Amino acid sequence: MSASERTAQAAGGCPFHAAGGPAAGEPAAGSPAAMAEAFDPFDGPYQLDPAEALRWSRDQLPVFYSPKLGYWVVSRYDDVKAVFRDAILFSPRNVLEPITPPCAEAREVLTRYGYAMNRTLVNEDEPAHMERRRVLSEHFLPANVEAHQAMIRRLTREKVDRFIDEGRIDLVDAMLYEIPLTVALHFLGVPEDELERLRRFSVAHAVNAFGRPTPAHQIDVAHAVGRFWQYAGGVIETMRADPDGTGWMHHTIRKNAELPAIVTDSYVHSMMMAIIVAAHETTALASAGMFKTLLTHRDAWEAICADPALIPNAVEESLRVAGSAAAWRRQTTAPTRLGGIDLPEGAKLLIVQASANQDERHFEHAEQFDIYRDNAVDHLTFGYGSHQCMGKNIGRMEMRIFLEEVSRRLPHLRLADQTFTYLPNTTFRGPEAVWVEWDPARNPERSDPQVRTASVDFAVGAPARRDIARSVRVARIVREADDVLGLTLVDARGRALPRWSAGAHVELCLGGYDRKYSLCGAPDAACYQVAILHQADGRGGSRHIHETVREGMELKLRGPHNLFRLDEGAPAYLLVAGGIGITPILAMADRLKALGRPYAIHYLGRARSSMAFLDRLEADHRGRLAVHARQDGARADLPAIVAGLPPGAQVYACGPDRMLAALEELTVGHPDGTLHVERFAGATGILDPSKETAFAVVLKDSGLTLTVAQDQTLLDAIQAAGIDLACDCREGLCGSCEVELVAGEVDHRDRVLSRAERAEGRRMMACCSRSRDGGPLTLA
Ligand code: HEM
Ligand code: FES
Repeated sequence: MSASERTAQAAGGCPFHAAGGPAAGEPAAGSPAAMAEAFDPFDGPYQLDPAEALRWSRDQLPVFYSPKLGYWVVSRYDDVKAVFRDAILFSPRNVLEPITPPCAEAREVLTRYGYAMNRTLVNEDEPAHMERRRVLSEHFLPANVEAHQAMIRRLTREKVDRFIDEGRIDLVDAMLYEIPLTVALHFLGVPEDELERLRRFSVAHAVNAFGRPTPAHQIDVAHAVGRFWQYAGGVIETMRADPDGTGWMHHTIRKNAELPAIVTDSYVHSMMMAIIVAAHETTALASAGMFKTLLTHRDAWEAICADPALIPNAVEESLRVAGSAAAWRRQTTAPTRLGGIDLPEGAKLLIVQASANQDERHFEHAEQFDIYRDNAVDHLTFGYGSHQCMGKNIGRMEMRIFLEEVSRRLPHLRLADQTFTYLPNTTFRGPEAVWVEWDPARNPERSDPQVRTASVDFAVGAPARRDIARSVRVARIVREADDVLGLTLVDARGRALPRWSAGAHVELCLGGYDRKYSLCGAPDAACYQVAILHQADGRGGSRHIHETVREGMELKLRGPHNLFRLDEGAPAYLLVAGGIGITPILAMADRLKALGRPYAIHYLGRARSSMAFLDRLEADHRGRLAVHARQDGARADLPAIVAGLPPGAQVYACGPDRMLAALEELTVGHPDGTLHVERFAGATGILDPSKETAFAVVLKDSGLTLTVAQDQTLLDAIQAAGIDLACDCREGLCGSCEVELVAGEVDHRDRVLSRAERAEGRRMMACCSRSRDGGPLTLA
């Protein structure tokens, strides 16, 4: 039994075992078991900052049973994503269930209103869910979402016109609530005449599903929810009387007439009620959280005022750290194991996106707000998998326009002194008010009227990774060894660069070349250090840098990003570097030394003069370092080195393919996860349009058929269809773009899958692999 399993059992245990769970001893104060027992999502810390309140869980007990809630809480990124990904094993049937069961009187009130909330989309099981989602997805296609841009822009501009000379407002009251509600009603085709009433209904619906109202409050909530139910029924009747009406709910009602077995009557009524909340409350709260976060991080605010192209990623980073869907729910349909913990059938799960979004295992220095973070878009605020938010691109579009209009017209806006309040509940999160102030005399449009209308539009969908790069300046260049230049890079505007962890890399963009380099300085320094080998037989990037880079020069940088993360829990470490592969290894050695862990470094190279950082290694890692310079006849005996590995030791290696292949061979009999490698080169033959063949891809779940053109990757084609698919490296190195293959022959070009996995034919990497013979591929 693992430590986490033992702790889970001690943690008040699981109610699904006979007699209500194992007898629980008194857990020691401050222990994970005690933290699990004390966890209460309606209590101070979680309500203030859910990610921080669950830090202990991410670090020590990533899945735990909360006796106060009656749910299993899931806090790590990979586990939350795995739950979202498998909607069969983890059913969404409990998503809208009242998390606090209503008292008998409240239930009676609801019955009197004929309340019969049932399945919508978000809480429907397969196969019914996908059949329905397919039939109803047309309005969410990027081209149809685009059509709403002008209206959102107009509404926003009108609101800003109204308050621009006031000098002090609550942004939520002045625009962030009403516009998402108006847009939602317009999108749905619902009359826009009852905004205030709908606002009250929505709050009641959120409290009913996700809150902990007292029994007295439950009665009030039940009345409001009952009235909302009847209101939704009335709206449907009015809409039925207008068969040619536009908007998604009109479309839904027509599909109800055409395909009543798929789009059922019960679905139409339940959805009418749920979607009004889903479409606007989420967007309004996320927008409020975004303004609060950006105005708190003044550097970021000023950066977007100076360069609006940063807005799409600033929105993603805000959704990551201050997203409006803090936690979601699922229920297991069979016994399973998650995060090292056994879950019984029927286990109710609270999967906390707010915590996953700040998991250091996925996001470098996750607690830092960084609008240049190039994987911010991996956040789980929109969910993931077959139920992923259908309206995500509408929400994004609204948030971008709000930010673009306000930052352009009021760059001198600041947060007023205030205490932020939140509606107590597990799921919907965002400040109830955001008071801001400014000096109207300094409004730019007073001297330049064009500022009022000089807006920038953004393409629908997630931001492109290539657009997310920060400006850095080359502060220092030194020769680290033959053909190796060491660069020290600082932020071009003089700010501290984000911290990073051992194994991380950055991507330098210079002269049309984008190249990745491992970081090798001190993780806490305000600057970055990289070392670049001039590769005479390379693709030209390193030569270009060697020839053109000068101190004082500005270049673009993406990252930092870590695909070669050090597991700090191993009993011992073997670090093996070949040539310039020393850069991540050096950072790892520094880290292990700081942690006081046992480690040995083997550094292989042609000649000492070609081996960077030798002096530093010999000074800092004396007694741990073995240098194998071929020219001195000191060849490394890798078989003997691997044979001497202590039990449980982990091997981290970076260097030429031949060296890594030898280590792979030598560690075959060792437990999984012993060897971790980082390669210099990505996938082979990624995309040469003149040699590629176009092919068709059937996406089984969404019922779409796409064509992957000769000059496109499968990943490009999937993303162009508005489907979010994670991708860290785009060159077959990291495994994040993996898709499930149902049928078809694949030309695997990645460096992730093993030979056996390729032969199994169930997975492929969308960023580089293609159809082998031009025939169609079917994906899950
Ligand atoms: C589902 C969040 C805006 C329509 C969801 C889910 C989340 C979510 C977490 C469940 C995902 C899952 O189970 O994997 C958000 C956030 C928004 C937003 C944070 C704004 C920032 C919108 C908008 C619309 C919308 C504007 C409609 C115009 C839907 C629908 C589903 C859904 C129809 C159900 C999808 C399904 O189950 O197949 N949303 N949402 N959402 N959302 Fe959104
Ligand atoms: Fe990294 Fe595809 S994005 S393997």
